[in-house]
Amino acid sequence: MIKDPNTGRKLADRYQLIEIAGKGAMGQVYRAEDLLLGGVTVAVKFLSQTLLNQKMRNRFLREATICALLAEKSIHIVRVRDYGVDDNDVPYYVMEFLEGQSLSEIIKTQHLSLPRFLSYARQLCLGLEPAHKGIVFNREPTVIIHRDIKPSNVLIVQDSTLGELVKILDFGIAKLIEANRDQTHSFMGTLAYCSPEQMEGKELDNRSDIYSLGVMMYEMLAGEMPIIPETPSFGGWYKAHHQKPPKGLSTALNIPQPLEQLVRKCLAKDPSQRPQSVSEILKALEPLEQRYSDRYPSQTKFPVQRTEEPTPALTIEAICLQATWPKDKPKQKIVFPKLIRTSRGVVATLWVMLSGQDIVNRQFSTRYNQFLFLTSPHPMLLWITVLHNREFGPRWLPCYLDLKTNLGQRLARHLGQSGSYRMLFFALEKPQKCQHVMTSTIDPTQCQMLLNWANSSQTLSSSAQPQISKNMLRKEFERLKPQILIKLEAVHTDFPSDISG
Ligand SMILES: Nc1ncnc2c1ncn2[C@@H]1O[C@H](COP(=O)(O)OP(=O)(O)OP(=O)(O)O)[C@@H](O)[C@H]1O
Ligand SMILES: [Mg+2]
Repeated sequence: MIKDPNTGRKLADRYQLIEIAGKGAMGQVYRAEDLLLGGVTVAVKFLSQTLLNQKMRNRFLREATICALLAEKSIHIVRVRDYGVDDNDVPYYVMEFLEGQSLSEIIKTQHLSLPRFLSYARQLCLGLEPAHKGIVFNREPTVIIHRDIKPSNVLIVQDSTLGELVKILDFGIAKLIEANRDQTHSFMGTLAYCSPEQMEGKELDNRSDIYSLGVMMYEMLAGEMPIIPETPSFGGWYKAHHQKPPKGLSTALNIPQPLEQLVRKCLAKDPSQRPQSVSEILKALEPLEQRYSDRYPSQTKFPVQRTEEPTPALTIEAICLQATWPKDKPKQKIVFPKLIRTSRGVVATLWVMLSGQDIVNRQFSTRYNQFLFLTSPHPMLLWITVLHNREFGPRWLPCYLDLKTNLGQRLARHLGQSGSYRMLFFALEKPQKCQHVMTSTIDPTQCQMLLNWANSSQTLSSSAQPQISKNMLRKEFERLKPQILIKLEAVHTDFPSDISG
């Protein structure tokens, strides 16, 4: 562990910095604990740039909001939980802490098999795709270019259900730092992965990231760089990226020709000669993965994307539709959780009573969920679900799980293990039968946290009434609502989607 003056510091009255996790050109990253949310481990990245005026602050807050929103669009982008500027005008991001290995370490020490390479490449593209397609921010479509795609900005984490999960770090951060430097000749990025146009300080589009991805794909396959400069200076790299043809991938590596061609195409000096989008790369990777990946035939783990539930869910849905409102519950607009036993096993559900019209209005909504945990004074979990659509705005469906109770424990574990839950809607005017069922999926990192919280609650003691923890969580929920709304308003699609926080 490196000794550091920031260690032990409490940031924003909330994040306790524990130790330095790493240092890069654009800042340093700490492992920290979020004291407000039960000591959950988070990563705090301080940028190397102080924000000395309001214009710089505003720009940082705008870019950070965009990065946070973007992270909601793919499980292949690290989640940004919070951001701000500290008392010394240093901007920081709070991210989910990823227990993983950086791709740069992996490439240095291991040879990647072809199936593993193909899986990483696909997941990298799935992370880049929503950014390049753009998100809606303040009602404006905003395209995001990473600008610093390189192995140290990619972490590989082990996920119990999805296997190796690729997470892209530092989205948009290069731009932020760049924008605050000398406007005319700003340059950021890591020389070895920089596109020719980036080295010229030109306006960049998605194809610059595709070049960097090409360099990284080459390195993943060959264990060495495709282009080596005569001198490792800016001038040397400038010349190399502009003039040196990339080395061919050695035939000894036994790389399928279409893959070699794809990587070579990504490395074209002229952006118009590269694949024009990551979707195009994904299309080229798909048949390769079908042919060479041993995991593909099962179809269960690919693609690593949020997808609709497979057919068995329909059966569970049909079972849920037969449910009747419990006699011991008031016929009011309330929400409560319940584990139900079906022929397909136990299912975690949220029972919701709304007006019949509201149920109709909410049928095509984006679903969002997020969990907040408080260890003290009483271990309590807040399970937030929101249904949102443009016309009717948000319908908040919060419910509290007391993790000192048997039901709370079982529900938290079940949600963590299954990664999804059903919402059963009952109409106030016609409460007998369930009117509508929806599924919401939970992000894998949240699943892991649910399991951790359920475990830690067993040993935690309660020092006050559960209601006190509920009130504290309620306050935090009110504070979070506007942030969640910004996310939901940004996810403006024509189809209802399912996002989890
Ligand atoms: N969310 C995170 N969870 C866990 N570790 C992280 C997280 N974000 C970054 N790290 C680790 O912190 C270290 C430093 O990251 P940082 O981004 O500062 O450096 P870098 O990527 O090497 O350089 P650059 O500043 O050019 O991005 C890296 O080793 C990275 O793996
Ligand atoms: Mg980085």
